[in-house]
Amino acid sequence: MTLTPTRDDKFSFGLWTLGWNAQDQFGGATRPALDTVVAVEKLAELGAYGLTFHDDDLFPFESTDAERQHEIDRLKQVLADTGLVVPMVTTNLFSHPVFKDGGFTSNDRAVRRFALRKVLRNIDLAAELGAKTFVMWGGREGSEYDAAKDIRGALERYREAVNLLGDYVVDKGYDLRFAIEPKPNEPRGDILLPTVGHALAFIATLERPEMVGLNPETGHEQMAGLNFTHGIAQALYSGKLFHIDLNGQRGVKFDQDLVFGHGDVQNAFSLVDLLEHGGPDGGQTYTGPRHFDYKPSRTEDLTGVWDSVAANMQMYLLLKERAAAFRADPEVQEALSAAKVDEVNTPTLDAGEGYDALLADRSSYEDFDASAYFGGKGFGFVRLQQLAMEHLLGAR
Ligand code: GCO
Ligand code: MN
Ligand code: MN
Repeated sequence: MTLTPTRDDKFSFGLWTLGWNAQDQFGGATRPALDTVVAVEKLAELGAYGLTFHDDDLFPFESTDAERQHEIDRLKQVLADTGLVVPMVTTNLFSHPVFKDGGFTSNDRAVRRFALRKVLRNIDLAAELGAKTFVMWGGREGSEYDAAKDIRGALERYREAVNLLGDYVVDKGYDLRFAIEPKPNEPRGDILLPTVGHALAFIATLERPEMVGLNPETGHEQMAGLNFTHGIAQALYSGKLFHIDLNGQRGVKFDQDLVFGHGDVQNAFSLVDLLEHGGPDGGQTYTGPRHFDYKPSRTEDLTGVWDSVAANMQMYLLLKERAAAFRADPEVQEALSAAKVDEVNTPTLDAGEGYDALLADRSSYEDFDASAYFGGKGFGFVRLQQLAMEHLLGAR
């Protein structure tokens, strides 16, 4: 197998990821700023196909129209030169002090109106650059203090905002869908729409639910102690996996943004298996960008930045190869069948069967031997998992 990424792998990176100069709450930057043109050229050389960005990554918040246009023109030129695409664009509604209580849900109405204008302007840019997905990560939408935020009112304002943005995209005829990115906390003490499940419930209340899906991030679900693969499976089940943020996280703590697979590697393995082999025919369940939203660790210099960019793609390709080997192993197939993994896809009732027929079926209850499950009828899940681990570790 080859670990060399190609454009067909659809690997994309946020400009804010490799461009992060590594300042944190405890210390200043450890790396100089990275120029957009250099970033795109290097991504192209390393085998990525796409670049994503927030408005403020490309041109600073207080840029004049001319400065903004200059940066857009430079980006367009390097995209033309390298063939890289912009599959997704997003808006920064969290860095500037004006957003200290959020954008769409700030208690201050004037801030909410300003946030909407900032996003509308950025939607025009996304459409101009051919992006198909517009991500909304509401990192500042939330609170630290329960008395400070009327959550029902805030959710209603969130809804009002997303509905308006949907009106705009439809009226403009843009080929753009929205993807909400859940996160439980950080920077706010508690963020609205904290998990995949909360966001799915919110989307169902919107005026145009079909236009709005999810951009789940590996580390964000894991920060909430949740199984990312389960979240992705439910997003797929709901037809809402519009985009994905891949990275690494070790357990319930701050957002580590490690390289994909450098956190919970077994969850990363099951995720890649689901994305690449989870379809009904064993094929891909998701064909969109494999987008990395990570941060090159603060310990790294520029060499380490490019090493980490390459590592994300290599980890994905390694896990894809390992998942393919797992699926192809006859012993795995036999263990899957012994574990009745596929039987969950058989409806519990016969075609047309209702509760009358079920009540009349003595074999389902009166004659059913539940006691056989004591000391017998094990499912063999551990054996199956051991086979998965052996494939993951390259022992098979
Ligand atoms: C984070 C988020 C962000 C978003 C980005 C795109 O935890 O900081 O993951 O990186 O993905 O703002 O909207
Ligand atoms: Mn994150
Ligand atoms: Mn993210």
